Amino acid sequence: MQTERLGPVERVEELTRQIEHHRFCYYVLNKPEIDDAKFDKLFNELLELEERYPELKTANSPTQKVGASPSTEFKQIRHRIPLLSLANAMSDDELKKWEERIWRALDMTDESSRKKLEYVCELKIDGLSCALTYKNGVLVEGATRGNGEVGEDVLYNLKTIASIPAALTLDKTKLPEGFQNKLPELLEIRGEVFMPITSFTALNQALLEDEQPTFANPRNAASGSLRQKDPRKTAKRKLGFWAYFLYLTDPDLRQPQTHFENLELLKAYGFPVEPNKVLAKSIEGVEDFCQQWSHKRHDLDYQTDGVVIKMNDRRLWDSVGVTSHSPRWAIAYKYPPEEAETTLEDVKFDVGRTGAVTPVAWLSPVKLAGTTVKRASLHNAEQIKRLDIRIGDTVLVRKAGEIIPEVISVNVAKRKANSEPLIYPTNCPVCGTQLERVGSEVAFRCPNQYGCQSQVERRIEHWVSRDAMDIDGVGSILIQQLVAHQLVKQVSDLYKLTFEQLTSIERMGKKSADNILESLAKSKHRPLANIIYALGIRHVGASGAELLADRFPSLDELMRASAEDITGIEGIGPAIAQSVFEYFHQPEVQAMVDELRKLGVRLQNDPADAAPKLSPTLAGKTFVLTGTMESLDRSAAEKMIKARSGKVSSSVSKKTDYVVVGASPGSKLAKAQELGITVLDEAQFRALIESGDEQS
Ligand code: IVH
Repeated sequence: MQTERLGPVERVEELTRQIEHHRFCYYVLNKPEIDDAKFDKLFNELLELEERYPELKTANSPTQKVGASPSTEFKQIRHRIPLLSLANAMSDDELKKWEERIWRALDMTDESSRKKLEYVCELKIDGLSCALTYKNGVLVEGATRGNGEVGEDVLYNLKTIASIPAALTLDKTKLPEGFQNKLPELLEIRGEVFMPITSFTALNQALLEDEQPTFANPRNAASGSLRQKDPRKTAKRKLGFWAYFLYLTDPDLRQPQTHFENLELLKAYGFPVEPNKVLAKSIEGVEDFCQQWSHKRHDLDYQTDGVVIKMNDRRLWDSVGVTSHSPRWAIAYKYPPEEAETTLEDVKFDVGRTGAVTPVAWLSPVKLAGTTVKRASLHNAEQIKRLDIRIGDTVLVRKAGEIIPEVISVNVAKRKANSEPLIYPTNCPVCGTQLERVGSEVAFRCPNQYGCQSQVERRIEHWVSRDAMDIDGVGSILIQQLVAHQLVKQVSDLYKLTFEQLTSIERMGKKSADNILESLAKSKHRPLANIIYALGIRHVGASGAELLADRFPSLDELMRASAEDITGIEGIGPAIAQSVFEYFHQPEVQAMVDELRKLGVRLQNDPADAAPKLSPTLAGKTFVLTGTMESLDRSAAEKMIKARSGKVSSSVSKKTDYVVVGASPGSKLAKAQELGITVLDEAQFRALIESGDEQS
């Protein structure tokens, strides 16, 4: 190994280089090349070397910094209080050693005071930490961690997260004993932004269908979504937030004495706090919690990679102290990545909407990270070649940060003598047409666009999907039946379906048929961007479709555009432009668009869908207005919200983010209070709007 050959000086240099590189991949590119365990190993080796040879430790060592330098695309923000990282514990033994270090730091020799130490255990959410600043109850600054000292300004993107309050209302009933019923002038919050697993799976599915690169895990997806330049895109990604720190800097306000109290105070201010935290009375209680959640964590809709343990008594934090890298009063207990061996039963080849063929491993069912795994991704032909994977092989499957399990290696020692290398098909497994590989693409494709049943079905599935035409009641089984009965060959045929045809299909009731016809009729008036997306043009995702619909007010105009006209749009590259141009020049497509038009599908923008003129600082937020305001009439307030991409609704529900109240508000205020929705008065409403405008 290199460690033995290199002297300490060279090894420190090499480790420094490697750690900097992996931090850059992880924090800036969102594309880690190694897993956490391997990273920790490098980091710990450097720590040990620096301890042994203190003269080799420099101020620039990665052990003295947190994370990577921030990416330069966003405005940089210097944190008032640095965001530190955490040291890791991988076993009960390491937890005990951590407690012993606390005893030493506090000079705690007697058993009875040691026994009094309590610990708060919180699930370690695998997302990215963010710092939020509130001035007089209004969110005015929001940044990523960056390198711990300086982060990126992602305020508008953070504002699109439904569970992050943009303005605070204090809930008196939740205030811990002895705290003033008053909002602090300045409030700093720390917490984790994450992507729920269900949103992550849906997002990757959509990206896969658009043949765009997918995210390896929910953490990367959360980070990529939070660092979008257009907050409207972030708003669509359905991110979540759990708060875990609050700093009060007003000198006249009482400080929380314990971390548990800190979490309660966060709740009183309206922040979401992960509900499974506990107060453990001893380190054994902490160990129990870690053990218990090693299994239960898989039942949650967010990914956890460990447990964060913090000393409960905040008054002791200063005495226990911090290293430059992490506090000594907290530690992260990390769960190991989960792997399992199983047998490869078969490899099947799926044919997608655009004909791309993807290999999928069919496995003997095996329990892994709380679920039974039967399928794993094999990515493409190159991967199959690299692994030299064969039917009947014993394979190692891993689910670490990723949700979709992956075959990571083949146990060649267990390979049967008669096994044969896997042969990648030369013909489409569905329609038999010879596969093609275009240019430098990795994927093989079936060129039989209109005759391959799999492609036809996938295209219709895409057309009816939520972000496209959002047609309820038409699922993949019905689509299969419609195609098999030759009732539907292309998407325009959906609009020709009659009640009689639908009810002639097995198990289709009259009510369902009526509902389907109704949602088909409704879908005829979807915005142009949805139609462009729904067509399933290669490389055109939902955001690309929006850019195209912004520039071309009707499908006709887009169809007449040259590839150069399309490349002229900011955000649309030449590959997309070429693909759009070629798509609309197919006679089959032109005939189908004519059909859609004849069947009454609106193929142009409605002026009511027009894009807002201001920065979308309220994207994803729904407002309800009630009562009479002094300085604003209702329609002016509505315009202010809509111009910033917010929505206005007439009734209060769980989906409402803010209720803006004027004089004599009526029952909507009561409903908002009952549902715990943030209530803004006129001044707070103005502050919310203006805090957005100032910084745009
Ligand atoms: S406390 C100084 N609490 O884990 C304390 N971190 O490995 C630092 N994390 O950067 C953070 N859940 O991104 C804390 N309940 C929690 C957490 C948590 C997830 C993340 C956070 C942090 C990393 C440290």
